[in-house]
Amino acid sequence: MLDDEKAIRAEIVEFLNEEGYTLFEADRPSVAFTMLEEVKIDVLILDLQLPEMDGLSVLKRVKDDYPGMEVIMITGHGDMDAVIQAMRLGAMEFFTKPFRLLDMKVAIQRSRRFVALSSQLKEANLGYALLSKELQESVGHQIIGVSPAIKRVVDLMQRVAKSDTTSVLITGESGTGKELVARGIHFLSNRKKNLFCAVNCSAIPETLFESEFFGHKKGAFTGAQDDKPGWFEIASGGTLFLDEVVEMQPQMQAKLLRVLEDKKIQRIGSHLQIDVDVRIVAATNKNIAQMTEDNRFRSDLFYRLNSFIINLPPLRERREDIPILFDYYLRFFCNKFNKNIPDVDPQVYKALGQYDFPGNIRELRNMVERAIILSDGNKIRTRDFSLKEIVVDELPVDGEEVLDLEELEKRTIIKALEKTGYKKVEAALLLNITRQALDRRLEKYNLYY
Ligand SMILES: Nc1ncnc2c1ncn2[C@@H]1O[C@H](COP(=O)(O)OP(=O)(O)OP(=O)(O)O)[C@@H](O)[C@H]1O
Ligand SMILES: [Mg+2]
Repeated sequence: MLDDEKAIRAEIVEFLNEEGYTLFEADRPSVAFTMLEEVKIDVLILDLQLPEMDGLSVLKRVKDDYPGMEVIMITGHGDMDAVIQAMRLGAMEFFTKPFRLLDMKVAIQRSRRFVALSSQLKEANLGYALLSKELQESVGHQIIGVSPAIKRVVDLMQRVAKSDTTSVLITGESGTGKELVARGIHFLSNRKKNLFCAVNCSAIPETLFESEFFGHKKGAFTGAQDDKPGWFEIASGGTLFLDEVVEMQPQMQAKLLRVLEDKKIQRIGSHLQIDVDVRIVAATNKNIAQMTEDNRFRSDLFYRLNSFIINLPPLRERREDIPILFDYYLRFFCNKFNKNIPDVDPQVYKALGQYDFPGNIRELRNMVERAIILSDGNKIRTRDFSLKEIVVDELPVDGEEVLDLEELEKRTIIKALEKTGYKKVEAALLLNITRQALDRRLEKYNLYY
């Protein structure tokens, strides 16, 4: 906190200390800047009237030298010009003396949330991408997200990739990214030079199961015209992805378990033991634990697989990822179909925020693809999505008297956006604030444009 008035400092410091915050005090800019070299500060409470240099110059320097820091300004009465200037320079909040300490606390909480969010974004290279570029190329897609849930998934993925014989079980509803994660594990591991084989267990007829997995010798049964390797041999050195693993017949489950234990197989009709070295990554969208309990899945195999489980939460339980995934796939498909990236009607984000996505990310992806193909203009609207479930709330109507400062600010921003066709740069100009300051306010009011 930088303020030359000792009494005000003391009051704020005491109050915020009691709230559990750590505060550093400075009575003039030179002291504050020396401090900033020593300690990392999230939020600066800054007085406008200071000795040595004025608060706006301090603000400017802070924004230049410490871009991650948020600033709360304290101004005297009637300093409107200064407030506008400070807004342009990127101050987050303003307080006019005298103010309520409780309001200051709320402002600090808000600023800190914003600081945490921005640093999270910085951490994720490529904006919201959670994989490195090389990995993206191998996997075919980025893993996109900001939610703690998806970050945890990526963290688990990276950990288990390192122990490259551990079996992994990936659970989650359809379309949540199980295969994407399985590929990620493979390409992050030492096995990446060898094959990633994805086998859908529900697609193999029961009679062919054994020969598909173990291979066969020529003449082992009618139709076995040649020697043929099975999946275990083909994937040896690499990763075998068993999709919809609960569809595997109990007999095959027992055989799979044997391979995991012995690391050896025999082709059908052959006595030759062949060493195989595969990592199994299994996936299911069923409740496999319940199925095991009901004796519909072998418990010994289940225990073997469940030593490392990665559960992918449904999209509706990590809604903060929705607008980000939407933007990602918007760009992806525009690129693919050689179209210009359209403006998105803000109602679209609103509608997406209210939709449950039973088909999860696959559904979102297909929805965006369809909308891009169908849209002919340069704007995407809710009607480009054939979703009856999507209900749209109306924006607040004009005309009624509003005396809440924040509500007024919010409405003014919405108006400016509407006037400029939702072009943020133009809206910021109209509002006489910087683009960054506008972004901050959009964030503050949860407006996703
Ligand atoms: N976090 C993510 N970021 C970007 N794209 C994702 C993400 N998760 C999933 N996807 C995409 O969503 C689609 C569905 O993912 P995937 O095929 O891995 O789902 P699944 O869980 O295997 O589904 P199913 O159970 O139906 O087989 C894919 O196109 C995938 O690239
Ligand atoms: Mg799948």
